[in-house]
Amino acid sequence: MNTERTPRKRILVTGAAGFIGAHLARRLTRLGYEVTGIDNLNHYYSPLLKQARLNTLCDSPHFRFHEMDIADDPRMSRLFAEGGFDSVVHLAAQAGVRYSIDNPKAYVDSNIVGFMNVLEGVRRNPCNHLVFASSSSVYGANSSVPFREQDTTDHPVSLYAATKKSNEAFAHAYSHLYGIPMTGLRFFTVYGPWGRPDMAIFKFVKAILSGETIQLYNQGKLSRDFTYIDDIIEGIVRVLPLPPEAQSEGWSAARLRVLNIGNNRPVELFRLVRVIENALGMEAIVNLAPMQQGDVYTTYASVDGLAALTGYNPAVPIEEGIQAFVEWYRNNYQPLMDEQEATTQESVA
Ligand SMILES: NC(=O)c1ccc[n+]([C@@H]2O[C@H](COP(=O)([O-])OP(=O)(O)OC[C@H]3O[C@@H](n4cnc5c(N)ncnc54)[C@H](O)[C@@H]3O)[C@@H](O)[C@H]2O)c1
Repeated sequence: MNTERTPRKRILVTGAAGFIGAHLARRLTRLGYEVTGIDNLNHYYSPLLKQARLNTLCDSPHFRFHEMDIADDPRMSRLFAEGGFDSVVHLAAQAGVRYSIDNPKAYVDSNIVGFMNVLEGVRRNPCNHLVFASSSSVYGANSSVPFREQDTTDHPVSLYAATKKSNEAFAHAYSHLYGIPMTGLRFFTVYGPWGRPDMAIFKFVKAILSGETIQLYNQGKLSRDFTYIDDIIEGIVRVLPLPPEAQSEGWSAARLRVLNIGNNRPVELFRLVRVIENALGMEAIVNLAPMQQGDVYTTYASVDGLAALTGYNPAVPIEEGIQAFVEWYRNNYQPLMDEQEATTQESVA
């Protein structure tokens, strides 16, 4: 009898303390991968939330974490040289559209320099597949819906979008030059438990619970293709074992595909607020505000490409997803923040 086991596949997840990264790392350890997670735990939003996400991963012997910055070239070179990664999922980035107006350099450091370090890592230490996070924001002010991968993405309206668009261009060049198999996933407004405090759903729930006013930009006439986290994770794990083949025709030798990953059902902000009110059993106080700089009117993903490749079929309706988010917020996030406040008050007293 052969008692030797196939070694677990090693996978690097960057941004592992982040919203999507922590969910993905958990799913991958359960699927039998050996997961290395990295993150610099920066203060863009509460590092306590990032640490709490990491704590949920600690019970797995197949997850290890390194606190490090992807813009740190020497450490990144060492990590890739020593890691022996079969695949890489690159999620670490400076996210958020509005923050880029006041903090442009953070985007260049993490999203450009950091991304280059990941590309260099897989160039020097080839792996089977690099999957990286792009964004629906690359579609800019595109008004033809749904957004299709073939649509023009030449007119970003925020620096964040410009960095994501340039990631796709960098990826094409590196894949063309060095034959690295890569998939860029354009995420569409991801939400769910352990979500990001800078995003609308999080802010709305928080404001309603504390009796504060919600700002509805462009008088609430904005819509987003809100995509539940479990659907996103399902899409990533389905695409991971499917690196693009080498192309046999055309001038590009790149083994790169770029795909939307969304819900294909946009929801207007007005309706979103109603769904949140129902889940909370409370009414919102709403202020109708003008359009914000750098924002887009609608996002709406065609997911035909990902569906054809993987059978991806987003399954969670907004009502169900919001209910799950509200439960997590009340049962996990609120106590975490209360605890932090109590500790801060103790140390001030
Ligand atoms: N959540 C969404 O709706 C959404 C939409 C479009 C694209 N994306 C992209 O998906 C990815 C993951 O997003 P998320 O929502 O989980 O965001 P997140 O902010 O929760 O996670 C990103 C993580 O990367 C880490 N990070 C940032 N800069 C770093 C650096 N220089 N070195 C090491 N770690 C660094 C952060 O600390 C954070 O934990 C990002 O690339 C984001 O741009 C997300």
